[in-house]
Amino acid sequence: HFIRQSHPNWHGKRVLVTAGPTQEVIDPVRFFSNRSSGKMGYAIAEAAAARGAEVTLISGPVSLDPPHGVRLLPVTSAEEMYNAADAHFGSADIVIKAAAVADYRPKDTHSQKMKKTPGDIQIEMERTKDILKSLGRKKTKQILVGFAAESENIEENARNKVESKRLDLIAANSIVKEGSGFQGDTNELMLYYADGRKIPVPLTTKHEAAGHLLNAIEPLFSEGH
Ligand code: CTP
Ligand code: CA
Repeated sequence: HFIRQSHPNWHGKRVLVTAGPTQEVIDPVRFFSNRSSGKMGYAIAEAAAARGAEVTLISGPVSLDPPHGVRLLPVTSAEEMYNAADAHFGSADIVIKAAAVADYRPKDTHSQKMKKTPGDIQIEMERTKDILKSLGRKKTKQILVGFAAESENIEENARNKVESKRLDLIAANSIVKEGSGFQGDTNELMLYYADGRKIPVPLTTKHEAAGHLLNAIEPLFSEGH
């Protein structure tokens, strides 16, 4: 997809990208998950590699081919994604968290298939760790970029995430707007910086949007990171 162009600022930069959904096991045949396709995160990983970065892609289960020139680390659950992200954070220059991490997982996982019974059942859920928030607390030199999937109050919710997760930049998208968000091949983003600036990325392909996002990250290289 990407023509190798001269992007000297990205050469040798270590970029960690997370993508896709996570799956939280209920029993051997069932899981909780979400509609993330992984396309946005894969496009970002591919675009960064095409600019000469050393890219590690931590991916939940998706049906996409690994992008060219990227080191792929497949994971399944939020817990596994947390462990992989945590292990690679220290050596990363830039972290871009496009993954749709499950916020909750079943409190108990059943080792045998759950059999149906005449009545209703309830599945108790517990919170997963917030990977990005934990990385935000640990960050030293890293540029930390998050995504925000919102169905309402996009700007307010996204800016709150910038603050609570100590991000440098967040890419917010509406999950209810036509052409934007989960599953499709296009996206429309609003980028909010920690310093209050914002940049719109008009509706375009996820590959184009990935390029815009990297362009928006680049000025942060010289700002003390
Ligand atoms: N994220 C994460 N770990 C989680 C949940 C979210 O790292 N357990 C990251 C996502 O990868 C994304 C950002 O946090 O980059 C925002 O995710 P989002 O679901 O929009 O926000 P939440 O903080 O989970 O809040 P809510 O779902 O209530 O809007
Ligand atoms: Ca969430």
